Amino acid sequence: MAAVPHGFNEVGIVGTGAMGQGIAQMSAQAGAIVHLFDVSTGAAQAAHANLLAMWAKLQAKGKITPEQATSFATHVVVATDIESLASCDLVIEAIVERLDVKQQLFVQLEGIVDSQCVLVTNTSSLAITSVAAALSRPERFAGYHFFNPVPLMRVVEVIAGLKTNAGVCARLSNFTSAMGHIPVQAQDTPGFIVNHAGRGYGTEALRIVSESVADFCTIDRILRDQMGFRLGPFELMDLTALDVSHPVMESVYNQYYQEPRYRPSVITAQRLAGGVLGKKVGAGFYAYEGNVPNGAVITPPEPPVPNVRNMPPVWVSPKAARRPELYQLLKDLGADIETGQTPSEQALIVVAPLGLDVTTLAAVERLDATRVIGIDMMLSDASVKRRVLATNPATRDDMRDAAHALFATDGKAVSVIRDSGGFVTQRVVAVVVNIAADMCQQGICSPQDLDVAVHLGLGYPLGPLAMGDAIGPTNVLEILFNLQTVYGDPRYRPSPWLRRRGALGLSLTHLESRS
Ligand code: NAI
Repeated sequence: MAAVPHGFNEVGIVGTGAMGQGIAQMSAQAGAIVHLFDVSTGAAQAAHANLLAMWAKLQAKGKITPEQATSFATHVVVATDIESLASCDLVIEAIVERLDVKQQLFVQLEGIVDSQCVLVTNTSSLAITSVAAALSRPERFAGYHFFNPVPLMRVVEVIAGLKTNAGVCARLSNFTSAMGHIPVQAQDTPGFIVNHAGRGYGTEALRIVSESVADFCTIDRILRDQMGFRLGPFELMDLTALDVSHPVMESVYNQYYQEPRYRPSVITAQRLAGGVLGKKVGAGFYAYEGNVPNGAVITPPEPPVPNVRNMPPVWVSPKAARRPELYQLLKDLGADIETGQTPSEQALIVVAPLGLDVTTLAAVERLDATRVIGIDMMLSDASVKRRVLATNPATRDDMRDAAHALFATDGKAVSVIRDSGGFVTQRVVAVVVNIAADMCQQGICSPQDLDVAVHLGLGYPLGPLAMGDAIGPTNVLEILFNLQTVYGDPRYRPSPWLRRRGALGLSLTHLESRS
């Protein structure tokens, strides 16, 4: 692909708001002459002034040389009318998100630019093929999806519509590389790559809350401290704001004809209706103090570790995940470990399920449920900053408190939640991996592009497929099968792409040559 010259020497930007300005900056920095056009009076001039001020600031900070600042500045011009874009090789649209207005603009542009000019839209929610349907030459039209803020978000989705010429996408990819950004290729499907792959994280966290398993803040803490997500799902929704994120959840769900994997939640629908949108209004899943929209988050305190005087002996289920590691952990924590075939009358009984809930294990293994506690051992204890325990509806308070105190002995954070198939991390991660796997099954993008796009576009600690490999595809598959058993919800049905690789114990990230 690197052999294809992009050939975009003159670039028109139509719509010079937040996105258009950022794209103009990157295009000028890639060496193109950039024409700024906007219908709103003075908008293109304001964008031009902002760009010059920004390059002056970057120069003052030593990030670019004075020569670069001058060169970039001379590369940007304000177009007085749309006809001034006639000499462009590429026109990038970043106007209002409306199909009719975008189509109207491109029809107009077709009458202005020459037949070789590439036309692209920065839409994040409209189908590229639908926008192209109005054009007489849809083969030179593509999606070119940047993320906000453009200079910092390094991934760019290049989307082929049904009739887009493959050479157009190759040239756009090379232009993206010239900007110093990373192009990923996507098929024209709802949400493209990033907004599709991101459907699991928030929706599964919302389901967990809707089952009263744990509160918002506990779920955020668990996902940050166990899996290394930078932001918990509720912190993230507070930052993005529900007037943006809830409609995206509904849109992808409905565009996929109510696919259960993407099912939105009544919780966000209601909060959106009530105006509890997030940080920008000073009220979201968290409370904020100080000036709106920049108030400081108020984080609820961690529940205290109970004071337990008489620690019971501990018996571990023979079927526990990572049983030897769990034994070693209990030994390190100073527990009195029982090694008999069955627990004594006093013992705290520990199970470590994958995907199943604590109740199911207590019933299937015929254990005394009043003394059964679950611990999430999907990840190695050494790799997590927080241990997660789950009760079942019969667990005695003294047993719950003893387990909490025992697993907090070394000072590591402990969260105690109510029963949940797959605790928190198992089910959220399994859902994220499964959606990514199904995107591969559908051929929306390559596995490599998927992981790069999600890692850079959503800031996940690893791409979803790499996450699946870290946990083990067979384990992810087991979690999903068991979640289906617990909930009976087709949401958790494993994608064939994952089922085949999980069944054979194959890696999710090193299979380029296989189907
Ligand atoms: P914005 O509201 O900041 O800027 C839009 C600009 O387009 C305004 O200056 C407006 O005057 C101008 N405009 C509207 N209709 C026009 C027309 N017919 N011809 C010429 N100019 C016109 O919006 P923003 O945030 O820059 O978004 C623009 C587009 O980028 C939308 O389609 C959106 O879906 C897409 N996008 C936005 C992202 C975001 O986070 N804001 C992320 C990725 C894509």
